[in-house]
Amino acid sequence: MTINIAIVPVAGLGTSVLPLTKSQPKEMLAVGRKPVVQYVVEELASNGIERILFITSQGKSSITAHFDIDETLTQYLRETGRESNLVELDYERQNIEYFYTRQRRQLGLGHAVLCAEPLVGKEPAVVALGDSIIGRHASSNIVSRMVDAYETEKADAVIALEPVNPADVAQYGIVNVSDDSGESLRITGAIEKPTTADAPSNLSIAARYVFNPTIYEALQKTPTDRGGNLQLTDAIAYLIDQGAKVIGIKLQEDVKRYDIGNFESYFKTFLEFTLTDPEFGTQMQACVRDYLNRQERQE
Ligand code: UTP
Repeated sequence: MTINIAIVPVAGLGTSVLPLTKSQPKEMLAVGRKPVVQYVVEELASNGIERILFITSQGKSSITAHFDIDETLTQYLRETGRESNLVELDYERQNIEYFYTRQRRQLGLGHAVLCAEPLVGKEPAVVALGDSIIGRHASSNIVSRMVDAYETEKADAVIALEPVNPADVAQYGIVNVSDDSGESLRITGAIEKPTTADAPSNLSIAARYVFNPTIYEALQKTPTDRGGNLQLTDAIAYLIDQGAKVIGIKLQEDVKRYDIGNFESYFKTFLEFTLTDPEFGTQMQACVRDYLNRQERQE
């Protein structure tokens, strides 16, 4: 793959899931056995990414620590006869180099991506949101498909898309496409969190992007929104207005985006990953069934 770097913004305040995020990063919340950001990194690694630049901020040092190689812990597990647990630390030794920079003020996702410019601004890059898992247990090849499309279509940007319930469009960035058939869709417009009436379609931007360096100029020229945040979706709209070729690739039908940015989607994600856990899934399903049966009997 020609693109082997991903920018992973993890600097947001996560205010929608307080108090969980008062003193721990949203991206470190547990989903089943792993913190969300570990799924994101594993997905990127399995899609050929070899360098990850985290856009981090105050209070996020546990993310940095999570990807360090912890020799002391490894040694402790060996000395205490818990070698079987060592497999849980295999992710530390993935073929990934980690880099970190800080977004010193939380001025929106677009601003977070702009923080990457001084470091990787001359090469195309994947952007993967650190609070969103793609595919159950992160088993998705969307990033490889997007990079392929970036190359074959000679695109300026490629965006992952997921159809959502029309009643939910106000929670997402929504795009307009010229033709909704085929593998690569030409995106003709993008709008952040539209009302149902204003939404041009039900195709939502699904937390994965590929950009060539023109995104940084677009971000610099894009005005902030009413809340003072620089929105990545608005910069994509700017790129389109400038005549850039922006392509959309839909997630495969059996692949979902799991974002943990609000309680409802966090709970749903946690439940699904737990119910499908390779070791405890069957047991957990029985437990939920038992709970529901007891509830029914009481009613
Ligand atoms: P969200 O849009 O969910 O923003 O971030 P948030 O600020 O974390 O959440 P709320 O609205 O306060 O609940 C999507 C991804 O973009 C990152 C977040 O860390 C998350 O992984 N992000 C967002 C930044 O890196 N910087 C920002 O200024 C905003």
